[in-house]
Amino acid sequence: MRIDFDPAQFDRQGFYRLLTATVVPRPIAWVSTISGEGVANLAPHSFFNIACVAPPVLQFSAVGRKDTLRNIEETGQFVVNFAPEELAGQINETATDFPHGVSEFDAVGVASEPGLRVKAPRVAASPVAFECELHSTLRFGDSTVVFGRVVHAAVAEEVMTDGHPEIRKMRPLSRLGKDEWGTTGDVREISRIRYADWQGPAAGA
Ligand SMILES: Cc1cc2nc3c(=O)[nH]c(=O)nc-3n(C[C@H](O)[C@H](O)[C@H](O)COP(=O)(O)O)c2cc1C
Repeated sequence: MRIDFDPAQFDRQGFYRLLTATVVPRPIAWVSTISGEGVANLAPHSFFNIACVAPPVLQFSAVGRKDTLRNIEETGQFVVNFAPEELAGQINETATDFPHGVSEFDAVGVASEPGLRVKAPRVAASPVAFECELHSTLRFGDSTVVFGRVVHAAVAEEVMTDGHPEIRKMRPLSRLGKDEWGTTGDVREISRIRYADWQGPAAGA
């Protein structure tokens, strides 16, 4: 038995609760920007993913019109900072609706460092920064999907093993439903099976 849900019968908040509880776990883009007047901004966004690898494009959705979107429209630049478990408190605090003109870096006490290819600052303690130039935006209802061309990536040496970012060292946070957050549990390696090697479905056992 399944319970059926018709989106047309839901109000916005009701279907939001269903979507965010079931599209899980979502990675968190901790997005830093700078306004035209030079005020730095920082906010978490979990409607986030890779849009394309070649060229490298990241995407996230801004719900409504908040400072992050305004700044990106003004400057055409942003940084996606990786959200590690140990910074959960600060990440959540930067989601506070501080007034326009207040920098979350200052208000929350997040140390910044300059970007290499963009004017937006990076989060110094985050192990990965993707510096992006705005590619395009796409509107759906009250939301704007922002696509950013990655022009530079900076990864902390401490999270690398043999030249590759290591999940156990990065310890990503994720967003679940309600006010739930996730951390990385069991990590399994499962190799992709080429058709030439396919021996039937027994491997699922
Ligand atoms: C874990 C987490 C994920 C969030 N994801 C999103 C998101 O995907 N899109 C969005 O618009 N707001 C999201 N928010 C809310 C924004 O971070 C919040 O509205 C913030 O104040 C926006 O800041 P700004 O005005 O500086 O852009 C999220 C909040 C949290 C705590």
